[in-house]
Amino acid sequence: MGMISTLRSVVRLRRYERDRTLRRLSKVADVGDLRAMAKKRMPAGCFDYIDGAAQDEVTAAANVSGYGDYYFRPRVLRDVTSVDTTTTLFGSDVPVPLMIAPTGFDRIAHSQGELAVARAAERAGIPYSLSTMGTRSIEEIAAVSDGRKWFQVYVWRDKPLLKEMLERAAVSGFEGIMITVDTAVLGRRERDVRRGFSLPPKVGLDTLVDGVLHPRWTLDFLRAEPIQFANVKGSADVGDGSTPVTLAEYINSQFDPALSWNDIEWFRENWSGLMMIKGVQTVEDAEIAADMGLDGVILSNHGGRQLDFAPPPIHLVSPVADAVGGRTSIICDGGVRRGSDIVKALAMGADACMIGRAYFYALGAAGEKGVDWVLDFLKAGVEHTMALSGIGSIKELNRDLIEVRD
Ligand code: FNR
Ligand code: LAC
Repeated sequence: MGMISTLRSVVRLRRYERDRTLRRLSKVADVGDLRAMAKKRMPAGCFDYIDGAAQDEVTAAANVSGYGDYYFRPRVLRDVTSVDTTTTLFGSDVPVPLMIAPTGFDRIAHSQGELAVARAAERAGIPYSLSTMGTRSIEEIAAVSDGRKWFQVYVWRDKPLLKEMLERAAVSGFEGIMITVDTAVLGRRERDVRRGFSLPPKVGLDTLVDGVLHPRWTLDFLRAEPIQFANVKGSADVGDGSTPVTLAEYINSQFDPALSWNDIEWFRENWSGLMMIKGVQTVEDAEIAADMGLDGVILSNHGGRQLDFAPPPIHLVSPVADAVGGRTSIICDGGVRRGSDIVKALAMGADACMIGRAYFYALGAAGEKGVDWVLDFLKAGVEHTMALSGIGSIKELNRDLIEVRD
């Protein structure tokens, strides 16, 4: 009897998960596991486009390892029965200080692409950002999400096209735009160079073997409607992805390398909502942005995909907060893989963090459920870190919590 009930409780503990995706996710412990799973499931060229970065990928690695330059000074015996990760971002509450960074071409990871990410973001209550280079349109995103939405823009040579996109984003209820300013020309991503990677990915004879090795991805890709650059679809002069191009060819022909602070004024005349610039990498530029009255600066090097040897964003947080904190919001973007990274950035003066690869890997590993998983994981990680550091709420976070390693 005793033995049987013991046996039964063991059996119950290991209840068989019927949902194949959830079964897969039950073995995942961190973002590294999601990355490994995405790598296994996706064709190598697609995975490398996401995982890869500029040149020697020194900055991409430093973005992650940079968080390791800061340790905690945890306080004990501080009753942490309730830990609250809620904070205010641009006037409204968010359950955790986190945003979804814009990424192009999400459908190379999963056919639902940006829709899956936007739905998961709404469920988690965090703002979603749609990339100009998204494979789902402004209107498609608005149709699936009533959550908070931002639109990421590049400075296109084609100003009427840009103006039209801004009007569409306003009509669709996007609360803000983020202007990416670190992409005067495209970074040299050497993994893509080696593979001759094009967008949309070509599934031809050369990728046949890859397709056989990644059957689920290939089925999903072939069953869905063709991947297009959904926001520029139908535009006559601007390629919309109906013919494969390398990203460098495309971006270097469409985006304006002459972009300057004057363009920020142009945006102000054509957009009445919130405005941030994405790709600030020095205190000096953060000061100009704050002086211009921008609502936020995103400390970012594009996930190490643009200038190699650009500084890791976490290193910029303290000096930028000292210079412009309180005048403009500070978003730390790059290398976030754990809740503790977010806690460090906030303790040093950031208002929120953004994630790119963390959710992109999740999408490739397990689709929409994967994105839910990673957003839960990061929020739980923030809570856990706060509990173990004796911090009960976000407003208690400050530099006393941080020890800078030599
Ligand atoms: C990006 N990023 C990006 N940024 C942007 O402003 N517009 C874009 O279209 C894209 N596209 C894009 C594609 C892929 C595959 C990646 C990985 C990144 C950069 C992104 O917004 C963010 O800055 C970084 O991803 C942050 O670094 P982590 O979180 O990936 O380490
Ligand atoms: C990239 C572009 C789309 O980082 O911004 O690949």
